[in-house]
Amino acid sequence: MAIALSILLGYLLGSIPFGLLLTRLTGGPDIREIGSGNIGATNVLRTGNKAVAALTLLFDAGKAAGAGWIALSLFGEPFHFIAAAAALFGHCYPVWLKFKGGKGVATFFGSLLGLVWPIGLVAAATWLLVAFTTRYSSAAALCAAAFATVASAMFMPWQATAMVAFMTLLIIWRHRENIRRLKAGTESRIGAKADDKP
Ligand code: G3P
Repeated sequence: MAIALSILLGYLLGSIPFGLLLTRLTGGPDIREIGSGNIGATNVLRTGNKAVAALTLLFDAGKAAGAGWIALSLFGEPFHFIAAAAALFGHCYPVWLKFKGGKGVATFFGSLLGLVWPIGLVAAATWLLVAFTTRYSSAAALCAAAFATVASAMFMPWQATAMVAFMTLLIIWRHRENIRRLKAGTESRIGAKADDKP
């Protein structure tokens, strides 16, 4: 029962598309129709509204950490990892948007910083390093996820590593278009507006 409720709780919280909601509530466009079409903070930034992008990052991260903490307080360990993993799945495949959701990066960071913070710091440092070097948000996310999995396998219990590995695989899958664009040299860099060329 605890496992089913953790999955349901995580999935429903993770399904809330904050990027889409916050952009529309502040008078912005349908985020799915600009830039990459993604509902995440990187694409919200392409509207030029940094505050809404920052809020999207915060809320998309917070929903996974929140789901984990609620599951932890209700059911104990390791259900927080299950709820957070379900939140990431919900963000990527939200019932409210006909299962067409985001790429899960902010939600991934929220899970790590909220539940296994040392791995979260490793992932954040990797993201910052790659993002500042390349200005590709997608490349930074992919490197951060891969490095977090390795760091978790080395230093964390297997339950945490299972969550991180599941999330990493899902993030790679959700970035398959970005990977194609990175290979082709057409990926948009951080700071570019929706109508800029790569
Ligand atoms: O956080 C998502 C990022 O890795 C890629 O986003 O909009 O460039 O596809 P986007």
